[in-house]
Amino acid sequence: MSVKLAEYAMCDKEYDKRYLKKINVSLLLSNFAEQYNRMYKKFLRPVLFKFDPEKVHYFSFKMIKTAHKLGLGSVIKSMYKLEDKQLEREVFGLKFKNPVGLAAGFDKDARLYSELSNFGFGFIEIGTLTPKPQPGNPKKRLFRLKKDKAIINRMGFNNGGVDEAVKRLRKNKNVLIGGNIGKNKTTPNEDAASDYLYSFKALFDHVDYFVVNVSSPNTPNLRALQEKEPLKKLLNALMEKNRERVHKAKPILLKIAPDLNNDQLLDIIEIIESTGIAGVIATNTTLDRTGLNSVQKNEQGGLSGKPLRKRATEVIRFLATHSKTKFPIVGVGGIHSAQDAVEKLEAGASLVQLYTGFIYEGPALIKQINKYLLKQIS
Ligand SMILES: Cc1cc2nc3c(=O)[nH]c(=O)nc-3n(C[C@H](O)[C@H](O)[C@H](O)COP(=O)(O)O)c2cc1C
Repeated sequence: MSVKLAEYAMCDKEYDKRYLKKINVSLLLSNFAEQYNRMYKKFLRPVLFKFDPEKVHYFSFKMIKTAHKLGLGSVIKSMYKLEDKQLEREVFGLKFKNPVGLAAGFDKDARLYSELSNFGFGFIEIGTLTPKPQPGNPKKRLFRLKKDKAIINRMGFNNGGVDEAVKRLRKNKNVLIGGNIGKNKTTPNEDAASDYLYSFKALFDHVDYFVVNVSSPNTPNLRALQEKEPLKKLLNALMEKNRERVHKAKPILLKIAPDLNNDQLLDIIEIIESTGIAGVIATNTTLDRTGLNSVQKNEQGGLSGKPLRKRATEVIRFLATHSKTKFPIVGVGGIHSAQDAVEKLEAGASLVQLYTGFIYEGPALIKQINKYLLKQIS
């Protein structure tokens, strides 16, 4: 009997050793994230920034995919993921592991959501998807404004169509996904609702929440759908279908432009309340070009990144104040640091998203924000 006990004790010791080794490796990798980020900014980013931005985007996709195929997913996860009960949020009935998400446009076709979640995002928004595949605007259509830490894009909803994305989403195990939907370029605004309804139906069983995108500046006339009457009609049509669902209806959010004036923002509040949608994403890219220093500033399209930060936060604050925080707001636009994220949360956002900051500040940004949030709590 005592021999058996000794064996058990040995087993325990072996287990402890292996467990401690595992913890040490995790700790090491976790610290390596910051070092890698410094290397990214000093060496890798300058090299990548010498090449065409759209090509670099797809090259990075391939690199991330390959790293995961080589079994490095758990290494990336150990480096970047930060899990803590105190980071969890419950917003529009959904449980988020942390409040930092990837904004729409990065993984339009739902090709990389699983791998991207290993970088520590609490949720990933795919899209904008349209019913039919479409090539988007002619290239070149994506520009870095390095001096301003910004991007101008006029991609024009290039995507492979919602049905193809659904095939990939079927494989999703546990990533919280937002489905951002829009209309095809060839669909006239009068028929826009049928496009949104098509994608809503196709994605319904595969996403956790929906985003109605009527705020992209790169589809001709799309922003006219932000006007009171057409917007109400569109959202009511979607909500009608949503309520018909036998199982739980899904949260529908509206993504708005930062270029709306105060009267238009008041209309948005009224529309959200009267249609009963779950909330708003503020904001999309801007047409404003004030205060830019880069030569690419006159390119047509939507501007994102640092110069958008202030206006996006103003819009969030306006909506939160004037709605008396009756609906949740997802804050996005110009988040390049933990402090920028906190600014959005303090202005009234319940969750935040980022895109341009991920490119300029490196993949450790998500963890930096979550770490900072934890520090603020304790
Ligand atoms: C290249 C690019 C493509 C984008 N595509 C979409 C899109 O398809 N749908 C959408 O709702 N927003 C799109 N966005 C806007 C972002 O989701 C986000 O609202 C905006 O960039 C502001 O955030 P940021 O300053 O963190 O980038 C895109 C942004 C960029 C830079």
